[in-house]
Amino acid sequence: MAKKLAVIGAGLMGSGIAQVSAQAGWDVVLRDVTDEALRRGTDGIRASYDKFVSKGKLAAEDAEAALGRITATTDLDAAFDADIVVEAVFERIDVKQEIFRTLDGLVKDEAVLASNTSAIPITKIAAVTERPERVVGTHFFSPVPMMQLCELVRGYKTSDETLAAAREFAEGVGKTCIVVNRDVAGFVTTRLISALVVEAAKLHESGVATAEDIDIACKLGFGHAMGPLATADLTGVDILLHATENIYTESQDEKFAPPEGMRRMVDAGDIGRKSGQGFYRY
Ligand SMILES: NC(=O)c1ccc[n+]([C@@H]2O[C@H](COP(=O)([O-])OP(=O)(O)OC[C@H]3O[C@@H](n4cnc5c(N)ncnc54)[C@H](O)[C@@H]3O)[C@@H](O)[C@H]2O)c1
Repeated sequence: MAKKLAVIGAGLMGSGIAQVSAQAGWDVVLRDVTDEALRRGTDGIRASYDKFVSKGKLAAEDAEAALGRITATTDLDAAFDADIVVEAVFERIDVKQEIFRTLDGLVKDEAVLASNTSAIPITKIAAVTERPERVVGTHFFSPVPMMQLCELVRGYKTSDETLAAAREFAEGVGKTCIVVNRDVAGFVTTRLISALVVEAAKLHESGVATAEDIDIACKLGFGHAMGPLATADLTGVDILLHATENIYTESQDEKFAPPEGMRRMVDAGDIGRKSGQGFYRY
């Protein structure tokens, strides 16, 4: 019998996780709070499958079969028999904790409860359940069908068995995993990009090099697909500033202290592509 996955939240990440999982043969319950959000999520999945089909990367009948394995619902109780639940709702600790509290009383004892949080400590989410050893971070990247990485995050009490189950799931849907052995702010990926962006912003601010040259250095010198300042503009300078401040607050490590100029950019509304101006003009 196919294994059952419940995905909580049908937004950008939740729908992507549902999509790759259904394609890999999982029976998926996709839950959101409104029919409108579910429709947006499932429309996005259908459109993405269509694109893979038109490029010859997925057979039309496999796309249809995968869609048939996804059940969209506003009823959280539908997750009751899931083997794994992946939560991908808004990045708010109160919302996530409420969901984990409810899931803990709902799903079977051996089920794994995973969160796709990009910054909230897994330990804080796990602590509201009676099974913190069964709670783990599965940090997928956007767009989920395209991005290869899944960052697996151990909370303070996550068991080896839970980590292994999360790895089996993520690898089964085509991802390559890295393991974050300690539940530190920013995990591995956000810590790395934050340190790089902070140093790039400092070099830029102090006039050591232009934004273009800093990005060219990373692309041609290190083979990065995109330079750190272009990445900051794409992600949102405000988002990266917030992530970096959070890591700095938790770690008290000076290398994550954002330069003042980056704060002023955000104060002034120059937050990157979405505002038309960041380290570059768009
Ligand atoms: N967007 C990214 O690039 C990215 C990358 C990695 C991780 N993440 C993380 O993934 C999570 C989801 O992000 P997203 O970009 O998909 O957000 P999103 O805003 O696109 O989607 C969130 C969805 O959660 C739904 N939701 C809210 N409360 C709910 C509830 N109680 N039950 C069910 N659904 C509920 C919302 O209606 C919405 O559809 C966040 O924790 C985010 O930090 C995002």
